Amino acid sequence: MTRRVLTGIKPTGTPHLGNLLGAFRPALRLADEGLDAMYFIADYHALTTVKDRAQLARYTHEVAATWLALGLDPERTLFYRQSDVPEIFELSWVLACFTSKGWLDRAHAYKSAMAAGDTEINMGLYTYPVLMAADILAFDSDLVPVGKDQDQHVEIARDIAQRVNHMVGHDVLRVPAARIEHDSAVVPGTDGRKMSKSYGNTIPLFATAAERKKIIGRIVTDSTPPEAPKDPATSTIFELYRAVATPAEAEALAARYRSGIGWGEAKQALADRLEQELAIPRARYQELIADPARLDGILAAGAEKARAYARGVLERVRVAIGISRPR
Ligand code: ADP
Ligand code: TRP
Repeated sequence: MTRRVLTGIKPTGTPHLGNLLGAFRPALRLADEGLDAMYFIADYHALTTVKDRAQLARYTHEVAATWLALGLDPERTLFYRQSDVPEIFELSWVLACFTSKGWLDRAHAYKSAMAAGDTEINMGLYTYPVLMAADILAFDSDLVPVGKDQDQHVEIARDIAQRVNHMVGHDVLRVPAARIEHDSAVVPGTDGRKMSKSYGNTIPLFATAAERKKIIGRIVTDSTPPEAPKDPATSTIFELYRAVATPAEAEALAARYRSGIGWGEAKQALADRLEQELAIPRARYQELIADPARLDGILAAGAEKARAYARGVLERVRVAIGISRPR
């Protein structure tokens, strides 16, 4: 049987280069390799933090348009919005009843919110890993491509599936595994820390060439003169270039670093390479984002197919736990 690969992206902000390299691109490659792919927009996960109605709607369309602009083909890949598949939420309750509270107490996202002294941690944030397990288990997923930060969540989904299987006495749920691309596990932002919406250090994917150039101009560099040799391994600019360029292009730029390159030139090389990479997807993105009704239509069609599948898994679970009678 073809292996199923599934992943979701939360609509919590405008997609950036870290998302492209860590999430969108590895997932789209797996779909191209012929795996049975399901990619979705985790809008109810976003609700744990996004409370502005207009913002949630806009980010949802932005993430949808990004998937499509980067090459997701809805004819081949099941593409939907989490909130359109109510079976996921019913399964989430069942899974919660098999989840030890201690597993959630130890989840990084909750622990770091606690450590930051958040006084308003909502139950959605706390039970986040259970809903994520339902996203994954409702479709018999085998592989879940995610960034390193999501590894623990997939591990919790595995634990839940194994516990359910153990308690009902047979394999009612398929046990998934995370797939982490180590080369692009942590793409740096303009300040050298992990690129993240929450740090305000991102390079948005579909900025214009001029906007992007301005952002790249802000990448912090030292005061070594242009002719001085530079170590590519310690340069954020080089790291970003390497992540989008071919190995041969990266080697050519590394050689220029070693023989001396001005930071302005290095930034220009990065800006040009990104423009080359993103000009076509940006044009597609602009077309898609201008037509939200079309995006909604594509997602609704995907949801129908996703529901049909999830219904089967949910029924299997309902029988296994004694809610439905076996037929
Ligand atoms: P952010 O940190 O900007 O809020 P998300 O948490 O919404 O990003 O991440 C969405 C997806 O993109 C996840 O799979 C995550 O692992 C990946 N991702 C986010 N930032 C990076 C980065 N800097 N490098 C690699 N992958 C990333
Ligand atoms: N938690 C993931 C993130 O923050 C998004 C997500 C929700 C997800 N459900 C999922 C990822 C299921 C993979 C599988 O990036």
